[in-house]
Amino acid sequence: MHPVLGVDIGGTGIKAALVDVASGKLLSERVKVPTPEAFSLGAVLTALQEVSAMLPKVGAAGVCFPAIVSGGVVRSDPTSRRHKGWLGVDLEAEFSKVLGIPTTALNDADGAAVAEMGFGAGQGELGTVMVCTLGTGIGSGLFSRGQLVPNIEIGRVYLANSELTGEYQASERARKEEDLSWEEWGRRVNEFLHQVEYIFAPDLLVIGGGVSRKHEKFLKYVDVSCRIVPAHLRNNAGIVGAALYGAK
Ligand code: BGC
Repeated sequence: MHPVLGVDIGGTGIKAALVDVASGKLLSERVKVPTPEAFSLGAVLTALQEVSAMLPKVGAAGVCFPAIVSGGVVRSDPTSRRHKGWLGVDLEAEFSKVLGIPTTALNDADGAAVAEMGFGAGQGELGTVMVCTLGTGIGSGLFSRGQLVPNIEIGRVYLANSELTGEYQASERARKEEDLSWEEWGRRVNEFLHQVEYIFAPDLLVIGGGVSRKHEKFLKYVDVSCRIVPAHLRNNAGIVGAALYGAK
């Protein structure tokens, strides 16, 4: 067994667990602290320390983060939290320091895609696979011929005849905040996924995020022509993908 700490910094919670990177299985319970309202570097580092202290110490960690992360450095504002001040922050350096172990960082949806490709719905798929996570924002993780193409921000695409991005209309947050029925929301998700299909022509679309466990309620309104399946690892995908990436 190769235990690695996996951490998923999400819109509402910071979740963590120890992961066996050989099997993708959790080796510990999943622990969680609320994402700090003031989504500043200092507040996130404190929360990260808190959540990691709930688990036994291991030798390496991976953390996924809701923004563009290139070479461990933040390259966009985490829009779902509408918080400025993250551009240029070296997450890998900051997280390694606070956790006291070598730590890698990647985009959260890329993390989910790494996990789904390794041990979930995308296992063995060699074509173009797009993992879309519907949560506080919309994340996307693209694989082509078994390789991650990092930092695709598909949630930023504008829907036809609209001044709003897909993320603001078809995220799980939009469903809740606008109190949409499953059908109303499912039709928005459908429109959004049609744009995704035009742009990337995926062979397989994997729908992730916590809401994917309720896929029967909304995927019936989606009529894209490629194969579409719910994620297997659901809410654990970020943790598992971050750990797999951290083990590299
Ligand atoms: C961010 C993405 C992130 C997604 C899901 C979006 O607002 O721009 O980087 O993957 O939310 O958290």
